[in-house]
Amino acid sequence: MDAVVPLRRIADLPAPPGLPLMGNAHQIHLPEFHQNLEGWQSRFGDFYRVRVWGREFVVVADPQVVTEALRDRPGTFQRTDRMTSIAEELHFGGLFASNGDKWRRQRTMVMAAFDPGHVKRYFPALAQVAQRLAKRFARAGALGEPVPVQQDLMRFTVDVIAGLAFGADIDTLGNEQDPIQQHMDQIFPMVARRLLAPVPYWRWFKLPRDRRLDAHLQALDAAVAGFIAAARERLQADPALRASPSNLIEAMLAAREQPGNALTDQDVAANVVTMLLAGEDTTANTLSWMLWLLCRDAGALRRAGEEVRAALGDERVPTCYEQMEHLPFVEACAHETMRLKPVAPLLPQQAARDTVLAGVAIPKGTMCIFLMRPGATDARYFEAPESFRPERWLGAEAGPGKRVAMPFGAGPRICPGRYLALLEIKVAMATVLGSFELEAVESATPEATREHLAFTMAPTPLRMRLRPRD
Ligand code: HEM
Repeated sequence: MDAVVPLRRIADLPAPPGLPLMGNAHQIHLPEFHQNLEGWQSRFGDFYRVRVWGREFVVVADPQVVTEALRDRPGTFQRTDRMTSIAEELHFGGLFASNGDKWRRQRTMVMAAFDPGHVKRYFPALAQVAQRLAKRFARAGALGEPVPVQQDLMRFTVDVIAGLAFGADIDTLGNEQDPIQQHMDQIFPMVARRLLAPVPYWRWFKLPRDRRLDAHLQALDAAVAGFIAAARERLQADPALRASPSNLIEAMLAAREQPGNALTDQDVAANVVTMLLAGEDTTANTLSWMLWLLCRDAGALRRAGEEVRAALGDERVPTCYEQMEHLPFVEACAHETMRLKPVAPLLPQQAARDTVLAGVAIPKGTMCIFLMRPGATDARYFEAPESFRPERWLGAEAGPGKRVAMPFGAGPRICPGRYLALLEIKVAMATVLGSFELEAVESATPEATREHLAFTMAPTPLRMRLRPRD
């Protein structure tokens, strides 16, 4: 008979030494929180605990255990209570922050809106947004000015999502006075700050930064109300859209009208904000990291440029979906970028019931943080794991590592925007490499490029120098 191995308790896990009351809070620097945790992982292994003020977190880095837990949703793991309540306060309590039945109801609608067929049909509008991006870059190139990479790419991603999910052509690329952008720039860092705050003080008193945030939230609400009103008008003008809505906002409004439907007006608005937040920084920062990495690898940059020019033929910017099917190396560069620079390096989850992870008893309510990068940069799964080698993602070479790098998460809550994101990445890269010679992508400040975590992991501000292709 096999001996029964007793379960370990969380208290038995190794932990970095902390201080009374504060725990490890004094060792954590919020913009580098992911690196703090990765540093402890290399000292304490794939399973350890940290304490931040009164709250204890179990940190898990083993990719097999992480995958198992992520698949075990929504039953065993779910978004944390803190995430759900903060998201509601910041008006994005939609799909990303919901749990249980509320999550399930919304997931089906969002999946339909972002399914590959729908994304493919949206291509002509996406190509038009890419042309605006090219114009914006060309203006900077002609003036000899550096391009502020992240800001411009965020305009690109916001315009794409507004078109695809809300049927709105907002053109933040062409419009310098772009309020949506400014509001979201303020909201993101506050999400990260509030998630780790020792106490939710803002519920009792507001600091100047909390009052500024409220003003940005109000202004964003007004923009969201505009998207919803326009979609309602379309549904009224064309009732057939109720049966076959052309985008997410129409689908949600049509569902809302069904008798007995549990979606509220607030849910619709929260999902509009969710899509803007979930799709903007993630894709723009992945693209920024990709440009930065390519600029440091002349061979890969040359190969990506040749592939783009062959796929585009006589064109300088993408004009049809089929061109994007001829960019396997560019797509491999995207996967390799997300392996080395995952914009979501941490996935916090909470146990929805008592469970066991790798022999450790995890009681209901336990907060876990899943680290996504250690597995993706482990020599057991990837040869020369620290090197940027896009070709490892091509054909048979891809190997078992493919399942270990999980930049879009895993299981039932895997990112529904992943097809769109990969297509956007290819379109943006084809736009840059088809029209321009990339001269430099470098830090826009005197300090070297660093990873900066503010909900997503961005490079510190970058600037890009481009020259129009002859
Ligand atoms: C390179 C770009 C992107 C990356 C790396 C990324 C990554 C992620 C990750 C790691 C998650 C959490 C998955 C999990 O819990 O297992 C997620 C969820 C989500 N993403 Fe993305 N994402 C990207 C682009 C997008 C885009 C373009 C959209 C569409 C607007 C989007 C919408 C969402 C939504 C709505 C969720 C919540 C899903 C749920 O909880 O059921 N993402 N994404």
